[in-house]
Amino acid sequence: MINIPKGTKDVLPSESYKWHYVEDKLRRLASLYNAREIRTPVFEHTELFVRSIGDGTDVVSKEMYTFEDKGGRSITLKPEGTAPVARSFAENSLDALSLPLKMYYIIPAFRYERPQAGRLREFHQFGLEVYGATSPYLDLDCISFAYDALTGLGLKNIRLHLNSIGCPECRKTYTAALKGYFASRLDEMCDTCKDRYERNPLRLLDCKSPICKAIAAGAPKITDYLCDDCRAHHDKLCALLEKSGVPYEVDENIVRGLDYYTRTVFEFVTEELGAQGTVCGGGRYDNLVSSIGGKPTGCVGFAIGLERIIMLMEKQGADFGKENLGVFVMSQSSEQTDECIKLVAALRKAGISADTEMTGKSLKAQFKYADKINADYGIVIGASEIETKKVKIKNLSDGTEEECALGDIEARLKEKYNG
Ligand code: HAM
Repeated sequence: MINIPKGTKDVLPSESYKWHYVEDKLRRLASLYNAREIRTPVFEHTELFVRSIGDGTDVVSKEMYTFEDKGGRSITLKPEGTAPVARSFAENSLDALSLPLKMYYIIPAFRYERPQAGRLREFHQFGLEVYGATSPYLDLDCISFAYDALTGLGLKNIRLHLNSIGCPECRKTYTAALKGYFASRLDEMCDTCKDRYERNPLRLLDCKSPICKAIAAGAPKITDYLCDDCRAHHDKLCALLEKSGVPYEVDENIVRGLDYYTRTVFEFVTEELGAQGTVCGGGRYDNLVSSIGGKPTGCVGFAIGLERIIMLMEKQGADFGKENLGVFVMSQSSEQTDECIKLVAALRKAGISADTEMTGKSLKAQFKYADKINADYGIVIGASEIETKKVKIKNLSDGTEEECALGDIEARLKEKYNG
């Protein structure tokens, strides 16, 4: 047998309703927030991710699925959705549309990471990207969307951690201060941090190793190094969040693992998923579009990890709704199969989901099957039903039955479903 590749997962028919529930909710929320879907290819030119995410990041230096295509181009399966949206925005001159423009996506993303619970090599994200404004009101709108999404899915005990990492100007001074602080402690730190010291010093604040974490706790704080404009932006966003009742805490250790961020960065985290507790991450990235050849454009966005959300919903016993069949039509014997098929076709035409028995099961087995697939109603067709042109519609959850003329079934069931 050929097995599934490591770090990937099938979504089986018995589980897919959970994905539909989450995706439908998020799509509905997107339309409430005036966001439209954008779809970009599953692969892009490798250069896009190197330039936007940054070659000093783990994602670019270690985790990308990169290959040469038959035309000799370097291609990468997208490790995230933000850079492709920025590429599309610039390439299609979307700045000519009315701005701000809010776009959302539901995508598979690929990272060659060490798989564990909540960390996969193919995973899925719901993302929102808001283009065309540098105002902190858009940061608020974006964070409020994420907050409404997570709470709307019934999730509990999730905290919002917020930080500002300033602009390239304030970050220069801050990075120098950080390097000054860590220089004398580097010997005690892990190998990854030694490497980060040169390549990506901000990430020294993000190490999970207890020793590095303890050393990082005493590091200079970015908020002490923000320039006046970045500080005003951060303060305004904090004030707006307070006013709108979105609970948050400023966490100066949130730096994010991607290089394109400027100013606002945030993560929604839970303690209930172990080491993979970040269910949503995002921030502002005002220099990304210009760095890949477009016009300077203020942007802010986030992505929610769908596997992590679904895991957490399962853990917290959240309600995923139900996906079930309306009517299962059963035949007393194989002689009535044609009649059953006719009825099922009429029900489907009337917009009622229906199915019937076609494999020669006994009536008892048909009832069992109807129960297993969660059918709302069962209708048995036998010789007498055909002769009298009357059937019984059985409610399969409470066992009650009502009589109905064969020709009235669609109308009667429509009434039940639509009130
Ligand atoms: P990210 O923090 O790399 O940000 O990923 C966002 C979310 O995707 C994470 O918080 C996590 O829930 C999920 N995720 C990441 N890697 C994995 C994995 N290997 N397995 C399962 N889930 C994972 C971004 O991707 C940015 N593009 C977010 C963004 C949008 N920033 C601005 N706009």
